[in-house]
Amino acid sequence: MHLQLGIVLAGGIGVVALAHPHLGAATVVSRQTDATYDYIVIGGGTAGLTIADRLTEDPNTSVLVLEYGPLSNSTSITTVSGGVGGMTDPSLQFSITSVPQTNLRNRTSPVSIAKVVGGGSAINAMMTIRGTAEDYDRWASFFPAGKSSWTWKGLLPYFKRAVNFVAPDAGVARAANITYDQSFWGNTSGVYASWPTFQYPATTVLMDAFRGMEGVQFPGDSGAGRTGVFWYPQFADPKTVTRSYARTGHYDGKNRANYQLLPGSKVTRILFEGTRAVGVAYQAVPAGRNVPAGNGTVQEIIVRAKKEVILSAGAIHSPQILQLSGIGPKKALDAANITTLVELPGVGQNFQDHNVLSAAFSFRNLTLHPSTEDLFNNITFLTWAATLWSANKTGPYSLATGNAAAWLPFPVISPRHAELASLLTAQNHTASLPDDVHPTVAAGYAAQMSSLASAMQNNNTAFYNLVMSGGTSSGMLIDLHPLSRGTVTLDLRDPAGREPRVDYRVLSNPLDRLVMAEILRYTRRYHFDNPLTKNWGAVEYTPGSDVNTDEEFAAYLVDAVSPSYYHPVGTCAMMPRELGGVVDEELRVYGTAGLRVVDASVIPTIPGANTCQTVYAIGEKAADLIRSG
Ligand SMILES: Cc1cc2nc3c(=O)[nH]c(=O)nc-3n(C[C@H](O)[C@H](O)[C@H](O)COP(=O)(O)OP(=O)(O)OC[C@H]3O[C@@H](n4cnc5c(N)ncnc54)[C@H](O)[C@@H]3O)c2cc1C
Ligand SMILES: *[C@@H]1O[C@H](CO)[C@@H](O)[C@H](O)[C@H]1NC(C)=O
Ligand SMILES: *[C@@H]1O[C@H](CO)[C@@H](O)[C@H](O)[C@H]1NC(C)=O
Ligand SMILES: *[C@@H]1O[C@H](CO)[C@@H](O)[C@H](O)[C@H]1NC(C)=O
Ligand SMILES: *[C@@H]1O[C@H](CO)[C@@H](O)[C@H](O)[C@H]1NC(C)=O
Ligand SMILES: *[C@@H]1O[C@H](CO)[C@@H](O)[C@H](O)[C@H]1NC(C)=O
Ligand SMILES: *[C@@H]1O[C@H](CO)[C@@H](O)[C@H](O)[C@H]1NC(C)=O
Ligand SMILES: *[C@@H]1O[C@H](CO)[C@@H](O)[C@H](O)[C@H]1NC(C)=O
Ligand SMILES: *[C@@H]1O[C@H](CO)[C@@H](O)[C@H](O)[C@H]1NC(C)=O
Ligand SMILES: *[C@@H]1O[C@H](CO)[C@@H](O)[C@H](O)[C@H]1NC(C)=O
Ligand SMILES: *[C@@H]1O[C@H](CO)[C@@H](O)[C@H](O)[C@H]1NC(C)=O
Ligand SMILES: *[C@@H]1O[C@H](CO)[C@@H](O)[C@H](O)[C@H]1NC(C)=O
Ligand SMILES: *[C@@H]1O[C@H](CO)[C@@H](O)[C@H](O)[C@H]1NC(C)=O
Repeated sequence: MHLQLGIVLAGGIGVVALAHPHLGAATVVSRQTDATYDYIVIGGGTAGLTIADRLTEDPNTSVLVLEYGPLSNSTSITTVSGGVGGMTDPSLQFSITSVPQTNLRNRTSPVSIAKVVGGGSAINAMMTIRGTAEDYDRWASFFPAGKSSWTWKGLLPYFKRAVNFVAPDAGVARAANITYDQSFWGNTSGVYASWPTFQYPATTVLMDAFRGMEGVQFPGDSGAGRTGVFWYPQFADPKTVTRSYARTGHYDGKNRANYQLLPGSKVTRILFEGTRAVGVAYQAVPAGRNVPAGNGTVQEIIVRAKKEVILSAGAIHSPQILQLSGIGPKKALDAANITTLVELPGVGQNFQDHNVLSAAFSFRNLTLHPSTEDLFNNITFLTWAATLWSANKTGPYSLATGNAAAWLPFPVISPRHAELASLLTAQNHTASLPDDVHPTVAAGYAAQMSSLASAMQNNNTAFYNLVMSGGTSSGMLIDLHPLSRGTVTLDLRDPAGREPRVDYRVLSNPLDRLVMAEILRYTRRYHFDNPLTKNWGAVEYTPGSDVNTDEEFAAYLVDAVSPSYYHPVGTCAMMPRELGGVVDEELRVYGTAGLRVVDASVIPTIPGANTCQTVYAIGEKAADLIRSG
């Protein structure tokens, strides 16, 4: 199964004519065999295009990006209003379903990830958020003290390089009470974070009501690296009021002969000479279609990398490609008849995502502050919104998914924070992991749990997230630091042809249920035990007044937890090798040369924030690491 370069089958033949290249964009090459580049980037997504753009700023550096999905002009990508148009378009996503979740009565979960040039940044909800300082300092904490530059301080310059912040309209900011602090942002990137020209009046009121809750902070900017209640921008180009994403920021208009992109290219393996990565094998796929499972007749095409191969296929496919290339847990590779080139037990382990908790609360008495629900039934409002949009691209249709949320630390939401932290410390962590877990992976998990136990007792890491809907009902409720860890493994029925087996293993750490119960209880108190909401006519539909004890919450959660908030990370973790790590602090895959992973999969512990801005920053920092050798 694992073939070395010189003996590859077919050798690469067909020259496939591509659809009309995107005018004004970087070059889309015709397929050719045995082409050689300095760098080959696997995956033209959020991180992949960031890297390719930065490396090709040097005209002497040639880069080929191989992207499975199409170069799509779909309006479901570009439209700002509603924010997640791309998500509703199946042609822009892989079709993957998780394995049945044991702790959710065997419910499965869709695994929503992008398959299109631009990757997740093309279909995401455009929420521009970063984690707290402690979220990034935690990454460095797994390495010997003081050695790692993967800290808040070390990443802040890359957050600034990654995103071009454009301040909100002064009138809108005043009306909605939006604050911001430009010192946390940059203004050079082609990826924009900007603001809609309308906010629902209820959003401001719902945010302000957190002043009735003890200990909540209100940092003046979402980029400050602090917990609290605050506004944040959206990934939109303020001039065109369309989605700003990796393609518009890092590909369109680059016009560089040294920057080539091949959409419709499914990478199957990385090719090695010894343990040095020297190229990749891929298959041409008709735009937007999957290579049929079990089709061994699709031709492989080979391209060579003179300097490095950079794996940026995202947290689901990067571990799959490493395993198909002979890098991973030996037992799993043996089972798939793949010769182990480098044994790395952490590949596909340590899988994390944020968990979404379903809960339905509302305020019936917020009539002084028209909500989204009121307004979307109001023909006067809708007509006004359409007029503003068609005249100047302003008004409600310039708003993506919303710009406000609470990101609260555990001591603020839970009087039981010390108790739960000590339960976590005392836990046999290995018991929450799969039976056959490798000791190094278990050691890494124990280190993570120790860090999170301390985070549960300070106010610098957000566990609780309530996303304001701008309506009378509370918005989405998220657990930002689940303690459970999942796996991404090869599907043995056809390891190369089928999508990997994705197991969130949600609630496998039993303490997650107690943390989630505290998240639900706090939301209840915000509605019912808050001097600032007491006249608003709060209602709780679910969990409901009959759910009160830990056991009742645990029973409720079986049907109320969704494993994914679309933020898969962790499957090629940047951790020491003895802690189950897959890449080092330069993002090089342990035991290899000429190979790095640069995408969400290197994130060792998920930040308490939507992940896109963090992935851009990782891409920017990686570009510097690669350029400096
Ligand atoms: C529906 C949705 C909503 C989201 N909402 C938000 C949000 O509002 N705010 C936020 O901050 N984050 C959000 N995210 C998360 C964020 O977009 C992702 O974390 C981020 O885009 C991941 O970047 P990446 O580079 O790791 O992977 P991706 O951007 O997914 O890139 C990976 C690329 O690799 C390609 N690929 C995979 N396998 C192969 C192969 N074998 N050969 C060639 N190419 C391959 C894929 O097609 C894809 O283009 C959302 C994500 C989704 C899916
Ligand atoms: C895609 O859109 C660009 C403008 O952004 C246009 O120049 C190009 O022709 C379009 N491509 C296709 C295939 O429609
Ligand atoms: C590119 O290479 C040429 C020839 O080797 C050299 O003269 C030139 O200075 C290089 N340019 C850059 C930007 O490094
Ligand atoms: C879940 O699936 C497993 C394996 O098929 C089965 O043994 C178990 O009974 C199922 N559990 C429930 C609650 O359906
Ligand atoms: C960009 O930021 C710098 C300082 O960070 C500032 O001097 C400059 O005026 C800004 N440019 C624009 C166009 O806002
Ligand atoms: C606006 O913000 C200020 C502090 O920044 C706060 O004191 C005030 O209550 C807020 N007003 C509303 C209506 O949210
Ligand atoms: C965190 O905030 C809570 C609520 O204000 C406060 O009681 C506690 O002292 C704070 N803890 C720390 C470690 O700062
Ligand atoms: C396999 O793929 C090739 C080329 O894409 C196609 O011609 C052939 O019909 C496919 N075979 C099967 C069994 O799907
Ligand atoms: C591995 O090889 C054995 C022996 O040829 C075969 O029976 C088995 O099906 C193969 N497994 C996979 C996953 O290909
Ligand atoms: C409908 O919207 C208009 C314009 O925003 C507003 O003036 C009016 O009060 C709204 N009517 C109702 C019933 O909410
Ligand atoms: C559009 O913008 C122009 C210029 O600022 C302004 O005069 C006009 O009233 C705006 N139209 C609408 C419908 O808001
Ligand atoms: C911890 O759990 C693992 C896996 O269930 C078990 O093998 C081990 O013996 C346990 N260790 C202790 C100290 O109980
Ligand atoms: C609704 O708000 C009004 C005005 O603040 C107040 O008098 C009334 O008691 C509230 N009703 C409920 C059900 O809270």
